[in-house]
Amino acid sequence: MTRIFSGIQPSGELHIGNYLGAVKNWVALQDEAEAFFCVVNYHAITVAYAPDELRRRTYEMSVGLLAAGIDPAKCSLFVQSQVPEHAELAWIFNTVTPLGELERQTQFKEKSARQEQIMAGLLNYPVLQAADILLYRADTVPVGEDQIQHLELSRVVARNWNARFSPDAPFFPEPKPRLTPTRRIVGLDGQAKMSKSMGNTIGLLEEPAAMWDKLRPAVTDPARQRKTDAGNPEQCATIFQLHKAFSAEATVAEVESNCRGAQWGCIDCKKVLHANMVAELTPIRERAAVLMASPALVADALDHGAAKARAVAQETMTETKEKMGLPLA
Ligand code: AMP
Ligand code: TRP
Repeated sequence: MTRIFSGIQPSGELHIGNYLGAVKNWVALQDEAEAFFCVVNYHAITVAYAPDELRRRTYEMSVGLLAAGIDPAKCSLFVQSQVPEHAELAWIFNTVTPLGELERQTQFKEKSARQEQIMAGLLNYPVLQAADILLYRADTVPVGEDQIQHLELSRVVARNWNARFSPDAPFFPEPKPRLTPTRRIVGLDGQAKMSKSMGNTIGLLEEPAAMWDKLRPAVTDPARQRKTDAGNPEQCATIFQLHKAFSAEATVAEVESNCRGAQWGCIDCKKVLHANMVAELTPIRERAAVLMASPALVADALDHGAAKARAVAQETMTETKEKMGLPLA
């Protein structure tokens, strides 16, 4: 059975980009693989944050994942800091990661450009990510497109460690990304990737009215000034992409011809999209409301997931240290 691992930072709200790029795929994959899903709070602390807010967001992210369909009976869902071995393996991996590989990571360059003082944790972020995955010796990582470079680095780490400490039979697999057709959701501005830092998101758990307030002004094909102007759905990155994700195939075809033929206006098109989004997301929002009011249930699910994760993590650490000449007792 393949083993899969993926993580999500509790540094912002769970948005539909996360859902379509990663989480929806996690829900599907938990049926066919041994899956570990992690709320990565040690990654979230690599930029400035408020402790109480992080605590709240870690809880909310866990609720969002459970509501989206992550089932603790089928997989292991836990919070990274519940399994200290993540940090331990990350330290070990720091010793086989070339500095140059870290310095050329796009995400590091982008994030560090916004910092007055750059902390080592931000640079070493992808080393911890490699440790997350390899602690479970997972070979498949369901993520969005923006994580491809980080996964390349995790393969370098695995390769370097294997070459040095397990040259005859590779101990760590080289993990590969598992992408979806919705691997890069564009934000409401129609420009950048949907992301919390750009303020161009729709939250997975937002009320229908709030969703409409965001969809209505969302950027569409600039050629369509009036309803009678013919449009091109490919020039309407956000809305057309969301139709492909949330609407039935027949509707997507209808959207395409009605846009090209100027049969309906952008607002008509957005209304159909909104209805389809509400249909898919309402059950998730309702489950989240129940879970938000049941902290004991959520804590139980995470504890159960952490216990399963810890058992595997400890096994990996024992073998890793054994091969490296690091005494356990
Ligand atoms: P993050 O919120 O950065 O921790 O991302 C969690 C997961 O969502 C990762 O697998 C990302 O690749 C994925 N993701 C984030 N934003 C998007 C987006 N706009 N489109 C597709 N996937 C995304
Ligand atoms: N860096 C990932 C993101 O921002 C989150 C993450 C941390 C992750 N550890 C991981 C993703 C391990 C996949 C596997 O989205």
